[in-house]
Amino acid sequence: MSERGRRLFGRAAFMRDLGVELESIEPGSCTTKLRVMPRHLQQDQFIHAAVQAAMADHSAGGAAIGLVGEDRTVLTVEYKINLLRPARGQLLRCTSRVIRPGKSICVAESDVLAVGTNSVEKLTAKAIVTLAVVPLGESGEEHVEISSTKEGYDRWAEIYDGEDNPLVLLEEPEVDLHLGDVRDLEVADVGCGTGRHALRIAEKGARVVGVDFSEGMMKRAREKAAASGHAIDFIAHDITHPLPLAGARFDRVLCALVLDHIERPAQLLAELARIVKPSGRVVISVMHPAMLLRGVEARFRDPTTGKEIRPKSYPNQLSDYVTAAAAAGLRIEHMKEHAVNDALAAKSPRSAKYLGWPLLVMMSLRP
Ligand SMILES: C[S@@+](CC[C@H](N)C(=O)[O-])C[C@H]1O[C@@H](n2cnc3c(N)ncnc32)[C@H](O)[C@@H]1O
Repeated sequence: MSERGRRLFGRAAFMRDLGVELESIEPGSCTTKLRVMPRHLQQDQFIHAAVQAAMADHSAGGAAIGLVGEDRTVLTVEYKINLLRPARGQLLRCTSRVIRPGKSICVAESDVLAVGTNSVEKLTAKAIVTLAVVPLGESGEEHVEISSTKEGYDRWAEIYDGEDNPLVLLEEPEVDLHLGDVRDLEVADVGCGTGRHALRIAEKGARVVGVDFSEGMMKRAREKAAASGHAIDFIAHDITHPLPLAGARFDRVLCALVLDHIERPAQLLAELARIVKPSGRVVISVMHPAMLLRGVEARFRDPTTGKEIRPKSYPNQLSDYVTAAAAAGLRIEHMKEHAVNDALAAKSPRSAKYLGWPLLVMMSLRP
């Protein structure tokens, strides 16, 4: 499956909201499916025409995108849809194929089928979609770049500390609350970044070890520690591999705003459980998975190019974090989902558009 095709679906917030999933995509063809829910129905309990039209249109884009150059994309300029019969079923499937490729215009045909009981498929709609082939600049796509997590944070490091980040505003007091009094304690800050927490914890009298694989982020952390006179041990390491830290060494293990970048959280949680003392505590903060469903993930704008850069994130679910903690033998002492409220929206204008939406998950875990 091509990366471009995958992104055409992964980044289309409206397709995610509808629940359209990509089944297969090749240059010139694309198949998608949708599990039909009550919210997809019209007043007579048939699948809404607009749902079928949106699927037919976007799948046609999926079929066409693989036929245009890397520096181009496709934008729908017109479609015509015939609704052939009232659509009922548990699943909608849409198959699209390009019937007329072109340098400036592509024409695709989309068949929408409703799949009912006994897997009987009925053609419910047929659309002809005309797509313009345009330079990336006209679609806005070129403004987003997905980078590897490490490279993304290396590039973010310069401006990371100075940004209006509502997640950080919400998270910092929660982390302090769950770490408790850290004076004279051994603390590991796993995925420490620019040392946002590590420095504050050292200031409060703890002995801190920070681990991160981004040299750029840790350079900033080391500079800040040197400037403030705190002897924090910063270790460059990829935390998806076993941590270079002794077992049962730490009173507190912090993993702040990192887990959304970890494909297999269970492996990391097992390592956090290994290095924490039996009497200790693991404190986790992470961006709420609901944000990813809204198309929001860790990102920043490169000040020199104006491009939005997204260090690679993974669409983990809350259950992945909970089951990872359980599998690591950690007991959930506290877990809470924090939503954007009026107070946060007033402090951070960036967060106002997510009012009422859960932004942060906090977990405090005991061995
Ligand atoms: C959003 S920042 C959070 C930094 C810091 N914990 C904080 O809250 O300010 C995420 C950090 O996780 C680090 N990270 C992500 N994946 C990692 C991995 N596989 N190994 C080591 N560090 C990783 C990144 O380099 C980055 O510094």
